[in-house]
Amino acid sequence: MGKLIQGIRGFNDILPDAYPIWRFVETTLREILQAYGYQEIRLPAVEKTVLFARAIGEVTDIVEKEMYTFADRNGESLTLRPEGTVGCVRACVEHGLLHKHQPRLWYGGAMFRYERPQKGRYRQFHQIGAEVFGVPGPDVDAEMILMTGRMLRALGLADLELQINSLGTAGSRADYRERLVGYFRRHHELLDDDARRRLDMNPLRILDSKSQSMQGLIAQAPSILEHLDEASRAHIQRVTEILDAALVTYTLNPRLVRGLDYYTRTVFEWTSKDLGAQGTVCAGGRYDGLVEQIGGPPTPAIGFATGIERLVTLIAESGRVLPTPTSHAYLVIVGEEAVAPAYRLAEELRDRLPALRLQVNSGGGSFKSQFKRADRSGARYAIILAAEEVVAARVSVKDLRDDAAQLSLSEAELAALLARCIDG
Ligand code: HAM
Repeated sequence: MGKLIQGIRGFNDILPDAYPIWRFVETTLREILQAYGYQEIRLPAVEKTVLFARAIGEVTDIVEKEMYTFADRNGESLTLRPEGTVGCVRACVEHGLLHKHQPRLWYGGAMFRYERPQKGRYRQFHQIGAEVFGVPGPDVDAEMILMTGRMLRALGLADLELQINSLGTAGSRADYRERLVGYFRRHHELLDDDARRRLDMNPLRILDSKSQSMQGLIAQAPSILEHLDEASRAHIQRVTEILDAALVTYTLNPRLVRGLDYYTRTVFEWTSKDLGAQGTVCAGGRYDGLVEQIGGPPTPAIGFATGIERLVTLIAESGRVLPTPTSHAYLVIVGEEAVAPAYRLAEELRDRLPALRLQVNSGGGSFKSQFKRADRSGARYAIILAAEEVVAARVSVKDLRDDAAQLSLSEAELAALLARCIDG
């Protein structure tokens, strides 16, 4: 036996046992997105590196140290997408979708960031995200927050906190940034290495520092909410009024800044206390300048993304068990002459009953071993087809979950029994 070449650190296999919760999450989110008028868009996993550098920001953690970047065989620098917004904007501009009436789009798939793997943080992870173009808000901002709240409730995750903030416009943020840099410079001796490094490049990110020694300084820092331009102030106020009217509980957190540079005005995050350091399960915000920045017409936009692994972990840890769908029936084949008729019968049953989950024994085996496989498959019924039954156009059926006697049925009776099993 050769030595196994193992999978890559931070890249997970999602095994069949975990899949019921994954499917539940994906189906629930998709249905709610559809109900709010979003259409699916599928985007490539790879884009040109310059696109992410320009759109996410050169001095963000993602662009500086987390991207999977490589040269293709022509020497062009490409990057595995670290998130979905940028590719979605690129596709919308490229295909002229923004001339249409206020597109609402959603997407899902794997994203890649070279982060230090730990619980809730992986190098390949999955997001479902959505973007709305052409609506300046604040109504759609509030609606998006309400929709994400609905999604989390539908998943049974009621115990989450919502934080919101406004990052203002590019202009008001530049003024605030200057004020913030002045403040941190006055306390330069209290800054840790990371903060000193960020001071000139991306000082707002200092507000997001997890360092214990910095918390006092950060708490006293000037608040972005007190340095907003008039229109941004009115915007966030309107967002909160709509949320208040809908009885949503939230915290207005002036220190909520996001890890991507494209945001303007409203930003929000849903967090859980049950995930340790990686508590954010859903996050997003407005990015009114991004479409133009990457070569499209000036277009206001807002979006969010959820981390599927984090949602799945929360649901699994809540003790919720979602059953794996098992077969309705398992077809046991007795004797070589019954093999071809068994596959014919199986296909006929599948034609008649499209929802039927039927497993046909393959690879032969004694009657006993086939019965064992039938039992292990979790199927409700074992259908037994032996050569003599083929001639009589009958099958034997044993209820594997009940002690009832074995039945001898015609094909039509079998189909009726299975139809009841599917409905039940
Ligand atoms: P983000 O905050 O970078 O935003 O990621 C969104 C969510 O993806 C996070 O809240 C988290 O649940 C999940 N996530 C991020 N990194 C990891 C990781 N390494 N492992 C597991 N889960 C992770 C965005 O990506 C923006 N594109 C959201 C957006 C859309 N803003 C506007 N439109």
